[in-house]
Amino acid sequence: MTDHSAKTFIVTGANTGVGLETARGLARAGARVLLTVRSAKKGEAALDELRRDTGSDKLSFVILDLGSFGSIETASEKLSERCDRIDGLINNAGLGAASEGRTEDGLPLVMGVNYIGPFLLTRRLLPRLLETARQEGQARVVNVSSLAHRFARRFDPENLLPDPRPRARDAYSESKLANLLHARELARRHGGEGLHAHAVHPGFVASDFGRAEHFPGPWQLVFKATRPLQISPAKGARPSLHAALSEEAGRTNGLYWTKATPSDPYLPEDAETVQARLWAETEALIEAERGSASA
Ligand SMILES: NC(=O)c1ccc[n+]([C@@H]2O[C@H](COP(=O)([O-])OP(=O)(O)OC[C@H]3O[C@@H](n4cnc5c(N)ncnc54)[C@H](OP(=O)(O)O)[C@@H]3O)[C@@H](O)[C@H]2O)c1
Repeated sequence: MTDHSAKTFIVTGANTGVGLETARGLARAGARVLLTVRSAKKGEAALDELRRDTGSDKLSFVILDLGSFGSIETASEKLSERCDRIDGLINNAGLGAASEGRTEDGLPLVMGVNYIGPFLLTRRLLPRLLETARQEGQARVVNVSSLAHRFARRFDPENLLPDPRPRARDAYSESKLANLLHARELARRHGGEGLHAHAVHPGFVASDFGRAEHFPGPWQLVFKATRPLQISPAKGARPSLHAALSEEAGRTNGLYWTKATPSDPYLPEDAETVQARLWAETEALIEAERGSASA
């Protein structure tokens, strides 16, 4: 069995649901885990639970709001300072379909938090991930996508944030397709440097995902009625843990996993071109937003 005790992982959205269970699994495997959370209160509560349960003394948290470029910059500086190696970044945090609103930087909320924020975080942590890959043989990025990516039928990487969004374009499924394409492009660009990037689908999980804040009104009845179909967050964390820890995921790259099995994703035609364009468009969009913020 592989010894993970010298490794360091970062898990975003680790105070609850799939992220909390992913952090628990990594701590049980003996690794050092940095949780990202949105408040100190949530961070303390998660640390208390995980320390009690796993006995690990290698757990800490950093505040991160993926809906704020400023918060992402501050958090990635802190994470890079605190970690002399990063063996894995688990881009887990995300929110649901019916949510409206804007990020702090004025981006549409779902795409901003689920995809653009994690893209920027990954970009900022990439130097330390690649340094770790150089020194230790490899490092990993795991993007928590969703089966919902299959509904992103009119995805257009050159018009990521149409405003207003046409009804036929669903922000959540597009953000999850973008997570998947981002992992594939990371693998293509940096696979030769020892970076293994994968996307996963956790399953339909009984987490806080269906919270009323994001799915108001009749949606609550839908989540309640489908409860018997939902799996536990611990089960939902298995694909992330497999992609982060298994030897199999370290021998492969750019895959999409459901459970511990690589699956065929639903890709746009000419996926390689689309994912490269998406990367370029996302960088340009972040540059434009950052530029206009400092102007
Ligand atoms: N549940 C499912 O059936 C399902 C299915 C497919 C894919 N997924 C994906 O699985 C991942 C985990 O979801 P989950 O089911 O565990 O949901 P969850 O219980 O609601 O957890 C979501 C996590 O994301 C965090 N988050 C939300 N907005 C954030 C922001 N602006 N900045 C930083 N963190 C933020 C939340 O923090 P707070 O608690 O502070 O809000 C929480 O820690 C998501 O990417 C989701 O899209 C879930």
